[in-house]
Order: sequence, then C-alpha cells, then structure tokens
Amino acid sequence: MEDDTAGTARLGDAAADVLRRNDLGHLTVAAPELYPHQWSWDTAFIAIGLSHLSVSRAITEMSSLLTAQWRRGMIPHIVFDTAPGYFPGPERWRTAVASDAPAGVQTSGICQPPVHSVAVARILDQARRRGGADRRAAEEFLTESLDGWLAWHRWLATSRDPEGSGLVEIHHSWESGMDNSPRWDAPYSRVDAGEMEPFTRNDTTHVTDAAERPTDAEYRRYIWLVDQMVAARYDEEAIRRTIDFRVADVFASALLALSSEILAELAAGAGRHRDARDMEEIAARFRSGVIAAVSPRSGLAQDRDLRTGAWLPTATIGGFAPLLCGGDVAVVRRQRELLLGPEWCGHPDLRHAVPPSTSPTSPEFRPRQYWRGPQWPVITWLFGWAARRRGDEALEGQLREESLRQLGDLRFAEYYEPFTGEALGSRSQSWTAAVALDWLAS
Ligand code: SER
Repeated sequence: MEDDTAGTARLGDAAADVLRRNDLGHLTVAAPELYPHQWSWDTAFIAIGLSHLSVSRAITEMSSLLTAQWRRGMIPHIVFDTAPGYFPGPERWRTAVASDAPAGVQTSGICQPPVHSVAVARILDQARRRGGADRRAAEEFLTESLDGWLAWHRWLATSRDPEGSGLVEIHHSWESGMDNSPRWDAPYSRVDAGEMEPFTRNDTTHVTDAAERPTDAEYRRYIWLVDQMVAARYDEEAIRRTIDFRVADVFASALLALSSEILAELAAGAGRHRDARDMEEIAARFRSGVIAAVSPRSGLAQDRDLRTGAWLPTATIGGFAPLLCGGDVAVVRRQRELLLGPEWCGHPDLRHAVPPSTSPTSPEFRPRQYWRGPQWPVITWLFGWAARRRGDEALEGQLREESLRQLGDLRFAEYYEPFTGEALGSRSQSWTAAVALDWLAS
C-alpha cells in the first residue's frame, strides 16, 4: 500500500497539473469545458491554490479579475474569455446597456460572494514566508489593488443593503453561488417567466448526466431574470423596483462580514486607518445581520424573501453562515454541534464526513443534483479555514482529513455524491484542485 507521503505528493502533483492545464496565462478557467471563462469567487480560491505554486501567478489571477471591476465597485461574476460555447454569454448579458460597465472587457452583469480579501491575505502570508521578490510583489499588489477591494465592499454594503439591515440583497441565485439550492425554491416559485427570446443551454452537454444540473424550468427563470436586469439597464434602483427575485442572502452576508474583517486588517497594515475603520463597521453590521437571522428553533441562519418578507427555513449549508463570521458564542457552539451531528457531517451513510449542501434528512435533499445535496470541496475548505481562524483547530483538522480523503480520487470534481463518493459535475475543476493544494500546505 502506498504510504502517506507518496499519496500526498501524488495529490499535490495532480492538483498542480489541473491548475496548469486550466491556465490561459492571464486567467485560469473555472473548468475546462463547462466553465471556459473566469468566475469571480472561483478566482479567489484558485489564487489561494496558485499562491503555493507561484506568488506572481496568483497575483496575476487576482489582477485580471480586478480589470473587469465595474465603475461603481461591483466585481462581475464572470469575465469572459474568447472561448465559445458557454451560455449565457456576453450576447445575452448585453452589459453595454449599463452606465458603469468597464470598457474593453466583456462580463456578466451580476456578482458573486465576496471572498477576495481572503485570497489577498493568503497570498500575502505566503509571500512574506518566502521573502525576497515574492514579498515585494505581494506588498506592491496590496497597495495597488486595495482601493479596488474597498470599493467592492462599499458597493455591496450600500447598493445591496441600502437600508442598513446587515444582509446582502441578491437578484439572482447565481449571485449566491448556489444556483439551484432549495434555499431559493420558494422565491423562485413566485418568478413567472413569461414570453422571452429563445435560448439553448450548453451546460447539459458537458456533464455525463444532465440530471446533475439544474432543470430546464429553473434555467427559464435564470434567463428571465437576466433579461429583466438588461431591461432595467443594470441600474440597481430600477432592478429593485422591477425584478421578480429579491432575497437577503445570509451566506453572502457572512462572507462579507468575514472578508471585511480581513480587509480591515489589510488596510490597517497598509497604514489606511480610516478605511480600516469603515471595513470594521461593515463587518460588524453584517455579522449582526447574520446572527439576527438565526432561527432559535433550528439553530440555522435563514435567508429572507424580500418580496414577501418571509424567512426561508430550508435546511441547507447556507444556514451555517455564523460558522463563517462568528458574532455569538452560543450560536457558534450550537452550530458546530449541529454540523458534526447526524443531520449533517455525522450522518451515518455519508462516505466522507464533510458538509452536504442540503441536509440528507431534509425532504428537499437530492444526492446528485448540483446544490441540492452533493458535497462541494470548496465549501468544506471555507468552513475549515474559518474554523482555524476562530481557533477551532479540532474542527479544521477533521474537515481537512475527510476532505483530503475525498480528494484522493484525483478527479477534482466540482461536487461529490455524499453516500457513494462518486465524482459529479465537471472534472478538473480549478477551485477543487486549488483547495487540495491549500489543505496540503496547511
Ligand atoms: N454556476 C452558473 C453556471 O452553472 C453560473 O454562475 O453556469
């Protein structure tokens, strides 16, 4: 039997190889066929993985993304490269109608969760450990890019929370990153996609089994919302007035709190104390918003449908938002127990004890379908990383060990079937390879 060192080396080499194969030089595609462009939150995780291979390449990845930032601060969820075959491409997003889309680059017109400062901090740590030219390059990158990250957080805290509720408002489930999670079933049941320009999906031609992807009915609603945003010329106020999907996303809010706390540390380190204070305020506001959304009955944080005012109680991984941002010791303690308990990682039939995207005990659970049940290595990594930041090395160690066992299949799948461990969705997914590299280095 192969010893641990050989297994670790093999996993590290294979993960590095995925990132090399998906590298276009200035950006890393999220996955070779299904996602042939740059995605916003994927980029942050990919850069974390790249920082273990080359600090300067990790910096390039983050800089490429920033060149696509919209003038009011939004970082778009996709930056398009030239590869054909992804739908919806730039011709459906039609971002030229927006008053603040950047020139010279094609992007989508929505955003994704803000995890970028986690990557900037990780790159900086790695670079400082290495010293010399790497250290200089990373410090220079921080100085040059800081205003961009600050503008991104300020845009989220104002445009996406104009009333100061402490929760980030989203206008499409793609903005949550968890497209077809049952988190969004109730709000989507009220999205009535009417007459629209016809379209052809491409995603289902790239996966072995189309049932691992969202359904056609879901896609009609996804594209309907895109068309509604185009009709509103991507004006945030007009979108709020007209769009059929307005939800307060508790998971994105926790990530904004956590990332703002990190950005405050980075700003303070760069001598930008006023900016640091602003970021601390944003962190505090969204941390409180997340804690206020926790259901005393289930112990999970809840999203909220802003069109009806109803809280959304579905048992998904999004409910563990407080484990990312903290803010209440008793809530965090209860959530830790829940996460490791039989409804989640401790479910007796799981192949690997890592969080499923929906609880296997929930009626909405579907073990093979995208965000309705499968385990996503990148989400496991996020919870592990946040646990370590909180000083909970035991939880981090447990998630790391189980995640590395799962990743030992060397498929670097987008997501995994929780009971059989089967690789699902895309293979050679960049962010999966990236988190493997980071687990190995930690
Ligand atoms: N996840 C979406 C897709 O499947 C887009 O962000 O294309």
